[in-house]
Amino acid sequence: MKIKFLNLGKQPITNSFLKNVDKKTINKEFFYNLSVGFDKKSYLVSLMKHVDPKKQFTDQYAHRASQSRTMRKSFKEIASKLKKRFKPRKCLEIGSNDGVFIKNFKKNQVVAVEPCTNLAKITQAAGYKTYGKFWNEKIALKIKKLHGQFDLIFSANTISHIPNLEEVFKSVSFDLKEKGVFVFEDPYIGSVILNNSYDQFYDEHVHLFSLISISKIISKSNLKVFDVEITKNHGGSIRFYVSRVDSNFKETKRLKLLKFKEIKQGLHKFKTYKKFSSRVSKSKKDLVELLKTLKIKNKKIISYGATYKSATIFNYCDIGTDLIDYVVDTTTNKQGKFTPGKHIPILSPEIGFDNSVDYAFLGAWNFKKEIKDKEKDFLKRGGKFIVHVPKVKII
Ligand code: TYD
Repeated sequence: MKIKFLNLGKQPITNSFLKNVDKKTINKEFFYNLSVGFDKKSYLVSLMKHVDPKKQFTDQYAHRASQSRTMRKSFKEIASKLKKRFKPRKCLEIGSNDGVFIKNFKKNQVVAVEPCTNLAKITQAAGYKTYGKFWNEKIALKIKKLHGQFDLIFSANTISHIPNLEEVFKSVSFDLKEKGVFVFEDPYIGSVILNNSYDQFYDEHVHLFSLISISKIISKSNLKVFDVEITKNHGGSIRFYVSRVDSNFKETKRLKLLKFKEIKQGLHKFKTYKKFSSRVSKSKKDLVELLKTLKIKNKKIISYGATYKSATIFNYCDIGTDLIDYVVDTTTNKQGKFTPGKHIPILSPEIGFDNSVDYAFLGAWNFKKEIKDKEKDFLKRGGKFIVHVPKVKII
């Protein structure tokens, strides 16, 4: 049974950037209550109530993984690492976005599944067989029938978005070869607790995984985690290496070490999450106070990166255009729109990131290094970034 430990209040769908903010559009905007719970039996952290996936993964889906240099590099590296270690001849990707991972493979080697049809069309047009569907038993069985089973099944930032994990893993077991490997990665609850990055909770992140939770849940589908990595992706992610339970893959040293670390961090205890929840309240108080103090001094504050994560922050902390003038973002299909819930305008950096900006809140804090490298002129002329992780501060 799930027990609630965090309430982030009324929240919109993070991907629903508004084209305009007239009364009719605002009245129609969808909100739900974002609260998070811990299951004492499976150790899984999940939203208390999830949003209908058909409302989230539409043909208007905004996030394009290929648009970040950091992500392109990261997917290229993982693709080459997996090729070297497992030598897969046939791969399946669950949640292929705009093809940032599969483009590192030959077209005839890969099958992709992506429910956002605007994205599925991109990889399909590039010559990769792509099913514009949600990952479930039905599509898994269809793919098995048409393409057979796979040496490698890969998924990044997708499995944590799917409410029914038992169905996810059962479907994977249909399509995985006897000696095949399933590799998936998602934001890591251990990093969220450590960094106080409560903005990792939003409608799409139905669950935040730990090794101890996934090891338990996946065993029900006759699968086992045999290796694991903690990566810097998205501010701290966990990458699982999974095989059939009776395969020859042996548990690695780093897997044993991480299990030990998680127990030490208390990821199996409700108390840990309760304490985290108090730190989240403090973070809200500190951020609002800082922004208000700067505003009294007549400083111009903007936000850098119209991230999904920042939608959680702005709505939870009640930060609107009174404190943040606008958001800049390089993603063309976010520009000219308004952030969900708080309706802050989004501009291109070319227009918005000019000499009038004093402070930029790092909505895309997970790209801190890339952004700081790129914005040397801003820093040189005395501009400052604000972050909220692990603590609210000016950097
Ligand atoms: P992302 O990391 O996907 O976070 P989330 O999953 O919370 O949305 O989003 C990063 C956003 O930041 C994306 O919209 C692109 C934007 N961005 C910039 O505008 N400039 C940059 O230099 C970088 C790295 C990202």
